[in-house]
Amino acid sequence: MRDAVGTVQSLLVLGGTSEIAAATARRLVADRARRVVLAARDPAGAEPLAGELRSAGATDVEAVRFDATDFDSHRAFVEEVFDRHGDIDCVLVAFGLLGDQDELMRDEAAAVGVVQSNYAGAVSVSVPLVERLRVQGHGTIVYLSSVAGERARKSNFVYGSSKAGLDAFAQGLGDALQGSGVQVMVVRPGFVRTKMTAGLEEAPLATDADAVAEAIATGLRRSADTVWVPAPLRIVMSALRHLPRPVFRRLDI
Ligand SMILES: NC(=O)c1ccc[n+]([C@@H]2O[C@H](COP(=O)([O-])OP(=O)(O)OC[C@H]3O[C@@H](n4cnc5c(N)ncnc54)[C@H](OP(=O)(O)O)[C@@H]3O)[C@@H](O)[C@H]2O)c1
Repeated sequence: MRDAVGTVQSLLVLGGTSEIAAATARRLVADRARRVVLAARDPAGAEPLAGELRSAGATDVEAVRFDATDFDSHRAFVEEVFDRHGDIDCVLVAFGLLGDQDELMRDEAAAVGVVQSNYAGAVSVSVPLVERLRVQGHGTIVYLSSVAGERARKSNFVYGSSKAGLDAFAQGLGDALQGSGVQVMVVRPGFVRTKMTAGLEEAPLATDADAVAEAIATGLRRSADTVWVPAPLRIVMSALRHLPRPVFRRLDI
């Protein structure tokens, strides 16, 4: 349960080796979160962060195995986490794959892998997750969407389409959960300097993982539905979204 001033006390991270997730977990532990479950394909890879969070004051931190594309495992995974750790105030859905657009269009298995991880995986794990959150009667699911889902761009439309699906699912879920005590927050960062974007040319308004974490912490305090990082991207993407297609097509983005 969040404390008297609404601070998150327990956090489940799906994609526990993500740099944005790590920054967010550090930020929430600094804000007095005490129980953290880091779920990752390779739990050993999340151990250094787990140690760091313990040193920062978290009392119950565990790294567990989770694969977004292992759909059959998701229900048992959710049951085990809630049975072992009790109530969860915040679930951060952070896993994701970017891929290289040109390579993805030469390799259908890789393209489907991006969609399965970013979209189908999020839907699959959300179904049992929502069941448990409804039973406990509170909690916020934070989905890391992307501006890439706002309008498909020729430079990354496989990734963008997967984020568009995730974003639409999350929005609909948030509306469906009204009155249940469970909330959804959709986070739409632009270009964030993490290992996902290492070596890529920076986009305008590029930011870092700490800024995303700060925006998530603020959004949680305000019970925001949607968070853009940085905030001016809301205006930029609104303009881009409404550009006529012949004009949009000529942009080098
Ligand atoms: N960086 C950006 O510019 C940016 C912008 C907007 C949105 N986002 C989104 O923010 C989220 C976090 O990204 P990030 O920047 O922190 O990148 P990141 O450090 O590369 O984190 C992504 C994580 O997803 C995990 N992952 C991939 N496939 C998985 C699977 N099948 N099961 C479980 N975990 C899986 C990876 O784990 P492994 O360690 O196992 O590889 C990796 O740690 C992603 O959803 C991303 O799409 C990022």
